[in-house]
Amino acid sequence: MVLPAAAALPVPAGWTAEQALGLVVNWPTALAALKPLGRVAARETVLIHAAAGATGQAAVAMAKHYGATVIATASPGKHETVLASGADHVLDSLDGDLAAEVLRLTGGAGVDLVLESAGGATFEASLSAAKPVTGRVVVYGMAGGEAPITNWDLVYRHQVHLIGLNIGTVIEAAPRIFGEVMGELSALIANGVLTPAQPTVHDLADGSKVLAELEARATVGKLALRP
Ligand SMILES: NC(=O)c1ccc[n+]([C@@H]2O[C@H](COP(=O)([O-])OP(=O)(O)OC[C@H]3O[C@@H](n4cnc5c(N)ncnc54)[C@H](OP(=O)(O)O)[C@@H]3O)[C@@H](O)[C@H]2O)c1
Repeated sequence: MVLPAAAALPVPAGWTAEQALGLVVNWPTALAALKPLGRVAARETVLIHAAAGATGQAAVAMAKHYGATVIATASPGKHETVLASGADHVLDSLDGDLAAEVLRLTGGAGVDLVLESAGGATFEASLSAAKPVTGRVVVYGMAGGEAPITNWDLVYRHQVHLIGLNIGTVIEAAPRIFGEVMGELSALIANGVLTPAQPTVHDLADGSKVLAELEARATVGKLALRP
């Protein structure tokens, strides 16, 4: 494949190619959402959706490292995995009233930062769960589909900071920020905050089956297809 030079980096010593997969997409996305875009600070509270996924698990580990309290969401069968990765609280992502649960856990205040990759109906819950005036919602995925928001919503319902993130655009349009993110990732790996992920490896021929499992929310962690 061809990629911008700013995005190329060596596979860390001792890592397999499959383990390095997340290093170039999921981990920089999680870190960019938390730090340069989300501006997470110690003692803040962060809501992380899909916390059992490849991006989510890394985001939980990093948010804890930066001193944040983590409220995570995941399907019920994945809660043990999420707690094991360090989340302080885990909520059922299929629960109809996630915003109410988050407000209950934060004493009515809401969270400082939302890592929003769920989309669909959960997008509205994310906006409602963010602190008015100072809360940030970094939008980088839409697993549950598109969700609308209007200027009226931002003025009268959700007075939050809405931030879009596409890591490909960060690489192309803001290589300096991407370089800082990758430098920070190297430090987090060197000091053991992030350890090599253990992806589930499938044959390429099983790709359609694996994608169906991903769509059915049945997967945990990174998935790799071996050609
Ligand atoms: N913008 C970027 O540059 C960028 C880069 C990398 C990844 N992403 C996005 O980040 C998200 C996480 O990526 P990942 O590779 O680590 O995937 P993942 O988290 O392993 O898989 C997706 C998970 O999203 C959750 N989900 C929530 N609502 C869903 C719905 N309606 N349908 C299906 N799943 C739903 C499910 O977790 P539960 O069932 O546990 O809730 C599902 O397991 C994805 O949305 C991806 O597109 C964006």
